Amino acid sequence: MKFFVDTADTNEIRDLAATGLLDGVTTNPSLIHKSGRKFLEVVEEICGIVDGPVSAEVVALDHETMMKEAAVLRKIADNVCIKVPLTIDGLKTCKALTGEGVMVNVTLCFSANQALLAAKAGATFISPFVGRHDDNGFDGMKLIEDIRLIYDNYAFATEILVASVRHPIHVLESAKIGADVMTAPPSVIKALFNHVLTEKGIAGFLADWEKTGQSVL
Ligand code: E4P
Repeated sequence: MKFFVDTADTNEIRDLAATGLLDGVTTNPSLIHKSGRKFLEVVEEICGIVDGPVSAEVVALDHETMMKEAAVLRKIADNVCIKVPLTIDGLKTCKALTGEGVMVNVTLCFSANQALLAAKAGATFISPFVGRHDDNGFDGMKLIEDIRLIYDNYAFATEILVASVRHPIHVLESAKIGADVMTAPPSVIKALFNHVLTEKGIAGFLADWEKTGQSVL
């Protein structure tokens, strides 16, 4: 499963990229607002840090203006992935852009039927929002299971990008279901490294090593 980080904070992205485990980045208008930076400038900087897909979202609601915004975003770098909302105009834009060989991430997906439409529109990625689904009394991971089943039934190439990930169990369940990608905030990705027994084990080994009076270097 590929790991994308869901942030526009370039310091956090640099930190995670240094682990060698980061496959891409997702941003959205709220994350750009949180960064306090200029949209095009921050996307360009992120594209210079990470080789993989960097999702940058259009904000227009009509197809023509979405295409114009996408034209600006595409010029930033080859690894820009245009993010469009799951609407009729969003999917028209998806179809047009993927036809031109541009990566497209269809966002704000909350049903398996929506995911089916995105795959038929040739989306590179579909982003079902599991956290927001859970928040509203639905089962986010069941949505991922349904999309996996449908995409496998028809051998759709669209990658399932689990979004709105809130905790490590979302990551675990995504991997068990066979999602292609998950995008999570830096804090959730960092939490994946932690286990109390790992920390306890290191402390115990180091305490005993100290008693040997030896050094490796
Ligand atoms: C995905 O691409 C979105 O940016 C993101 O995962 C939304 O997550 P949220 O529900 O925590 O805002």
